[in-house]
Amino acid sequence: MDQPTTGGPPAQGRDVDELLGELREERHHDLDWRGGRAFSLVYNTDDPELERLQHEVASMFLHENALNPFRYRTLLRMEGELIDMATSLFGAGHGSLSSGGTESIFLAVQTARDHARERGVDHPVLLCSATAHPAFAKACAYLDVERRSLPVRADGRADPDAYREALDGRTALLVVSAPCYPYGVIDPIAEIAGIAAEHEVLCHVDACLGGYLLPYWERIGHDVAPWDFNVDGVTSLSADLHKYGYSYKGVSTVLYRDRDLYRRQIFMYDDWPGGLYASSSSAGTRPGSPIAGAWATMVHLGEEGYLRLARRVSDATTVFADGVRSIDGLCITSDPDMSVFEFGPDPRHPDAPDLDAVADVMDDRGWNLDRQPGGLHVMASPGHDRVAAAFVDDLRAAVADHGTARGGDHVYGGVVER
Ligand SMILES: Cc1ncc(COP(=O)(O)O)c(C=O)c1O
Repeated sequence: MDQPTTGGPPAQGRDVDELLGELREERHHDLDWRGGRAFSLVYNTDDPELERLQHEVASMFLHENALNPFRYRTLLRMEGELIDMATSLFGAGHGSLSSGGTESIFLAVQTARDHARERGVDHPVLLCSATAHPAFAKACAYLDVERRSLPVRADGRADPDAYREALDGRTALLVVSAPCYPYGVIDPIAEIAGIAAEHEVLCHVDACLGGYLLPYWERIGHDVAPWDFNVDGVTSLSADLHKYGYSYKGVSTVLYRDRDLYRRQIFMYDDWPGGLYASSSSAGTRPGSPIAGAWATMVHLGEEGYLRLARRVSDATTVFADGVRSIDGLCITSDPDMSVFEFGPDPRHPDAPDLDAVADVMDDRGWNLDRQPGGLHVMASPGHDRVAAAFVDDLRAAVADHGTARGGDHVYGGVVER
């Protein structure tokens, strides 16, 4: 007689080929990033050799666990070399890998909180601009740190005067972005880090987005104001390898100017029967494949590869931005410093289009622009250089003929609940 099932997985396991076939079919309906029509979620390098390397390395290290790196010496070496490359690139002293921008930000906020508590500040406060990534709000909520969000200047950049005014004896950390996600502008980091140094508080640069692009962006001829540890007063920095580092998802770097700060991130525990548990980030079990993928990506691309890809991002950004500016009724809402910007209805235009309706038409044409309250968000990847002109043609047509909006939300991220 059949036993009753226990729930969980299906009662009968399924055939491998049948499952793979079904998944391949289902994925046809997902966002097509290889075709260049995805923005921000995938950083498409349009480089088949890099993709081949990443697939091989991902499967080679699929099952390894970096919880105890001394058991996997190859991962230990790769992780060490990734941190060395990051510290030398940004002028930092110490740091670690994490699973992504949000975890890096959590770790920097926790470090700043504990640094403040050691100075006798019981209820530390974080100051950031309204444009700071929501990961700071999330970290503050989880870690019991008060967050004060400050208005930005008319150009979308953080306002040093607002930081100066908001600072008090409870301030633990000033946060700036390089660049911020919504507008792609870099905050006045030297000024704000200077204020932090003057008041002997910490200053974190959120370079999750720009960290692995800005060094090359500058070298291909763009003006980039100082933003990393070469700026006095910057004490920590987050930079994501899974964004413009071009690795696949699950890997970021969090860095500190000195070891004294970094040590607050390290956790050691031996008051249980299992022996010493030591970790340098909030995860326990850590997948080996993102570490191996990031290492292989950096070593394969080299400086020359990052410069080549930066040129492609720059070319694509120019076509996107010039195209938007050439369309009557649209404007770029800031003066972006990198490859990310928002465009919206031109306030000086008597008959500016409804951007939600324009976004509906762009969705129907297969483009997947993120919708923000002020307009639509563009983030250029290297592979966009192939499709940027077609994008501009479609956008021009959408502005000319768009009907009424279907009422799509301004959404970034999502919750899975059952
Ligand atoms: C400026 C900035 N900071 C932090 C993050 C968070 O990174 P993640 O989504 O990897 O957690 C992002 C993500 O886009 C970002 O743009």
